[in-house]
Amino acid sequence: MAILVTGGAGYIGSHTVVELLAQGEDVVIVDNLCNSHPVSIDRVEQICQRRPIFYQADIRDKNALIEVFSKHSFTSVIHFAGLKAVGESTTIPLHYYQNNVAGTLVLCEVMAEHGVKNLVFSSSATVYGDPHTVPIVESFPTGATNPYGRSKLIVEEMLGDLYKSDNEWNIALLRYFNPVGAHKSGLIGEDPNGIPNNLIPYITQVAVGRLAQLSVFGDDYNTVDGTGVRDYIHVVDLAKGHLKALAKLDAKAGLVTYNLGTGQGYSVLEMLNAFEKVSGKTIAYQISPRRPGDIAACYSDPSLAKQELNWQAELNLDDMAEDSWRWQQGNPNGFAS
Ligand code: NAD
Ligand code: UD1
Repeated sequence: MAILVTGGAGYIGSHTVVELLAQGEDVVIVDNLCNSHPVSIDRVEQICQRRPIFYQADIRDKNALIEVFSKHSFTSVIHFAGLKAVGESTTIPLHYYQNNVAGTLVLCEVMAEHGVKNLVFSSSATVYGDPHTVPIVESFPTGATNPYGRSKLIVEEMLGDLYKSDNEWNIALLRYFNPVGAHKSGLIGEDPNGIPNNLIPYITQVAVGRLAQLSVFGDDYNTVDGTGVRDYIHVVDLAKGHLKALAKLDAKAGLVTYNLGTGQGYSVLEMLNAFEKVSGKTIAYQISPRRPGDIAACYSDPSLAKQELNWQAELNLDDMAEDSWRWQQGNPNGFAS
């Protein structure tokens, strides 16, 4: 019996595959490599001394999925495959709905047809929109402010309907906060296409000399130092959360929703200082206008995951900074280095 990981060549997927292999699981990856590099799979093998089975296929290609399901027996599916750039989603929304919503629909159809009814879905803190207060608990109202976020909400609702129609399904909706960091080996990490949108890859690319300086988007928020506050979580902690979610599904959990965050918010300047400390580099920055759509502070209350999954983040800010830096230094141009 194996676990299917869609999007397993990507950032969070590859780290989760490492944890699954380390736990002795058999892993099959389906990824179309639209936002990842095949070298990530070689690196996973290098770390684990075991190679996951890999199919380069699109989850929207039903025949391709059926072929994979007919060759392997799966207990569960962890579904990472999707597009994730908020800005891009506003310019090509149909592409986002096609990929994220229709892709998940096809995947669920094939799972149902093969009697595989345990699913872990990558959702996002973005489904909380602009929360009325922090920390955020799972029962907060949801609302999307862009097509990417809406695609995640639609899938959450679709999976809710699926569960209502057939209680044999066990579905975990995992709402990630801000994943950062990399595997301790420095062999896998985040490898964004083009100029990064997110803070940490931007900082590490300034540190390595690929980018000239960071723009800090706003210093007049009502936060500790005026810059935006987020709940950064080490990707290895996040990956481990998926294994705990799988165990919960095996115990017939039904439909469950968890925040995966640390519960601790850090500001942009606190992150910048942490990176300067571990890298020994000065990160040039300028204060710029607020980024449209940004909120002042977003961090989780992760206590439900602790209570029900027996999971909590263990790695701290220094680990996040050190591990991101090790990855970026060893791979200045990502997997293409
Ligand atoms: P990623 O882009 O590194 O990984 C996604 C993987 O899915 C890539 O390897 C890509 O090639 C693959 N993929 C995309 N569409 C596909 C398709 N139609 N068929 C097959 N493969 C496809 O992104 P990530 O950061 O690892 O994110 C994984 C999941 O977590 C995504 O669903 C994302 O929306 C969600 N998420 C990410 C973050 C974050 O900040 N990284 C935060 C919240 C939620
Ligand atoms: C982004 C996504 C969100 C996703 C989350 C986790 C947007 C608008 N939102 O949110 O949907 O769930 O990542 O992956 O893209 N910052 C700078 N300068 C930069 C980049 C960022 O100052 O060059 C600041 C931002 O204003 C924010 C913080 O750094 O305060 C974090 O930004 P980012 O990494 O983009 O994450 P989110 O905004 O939380």
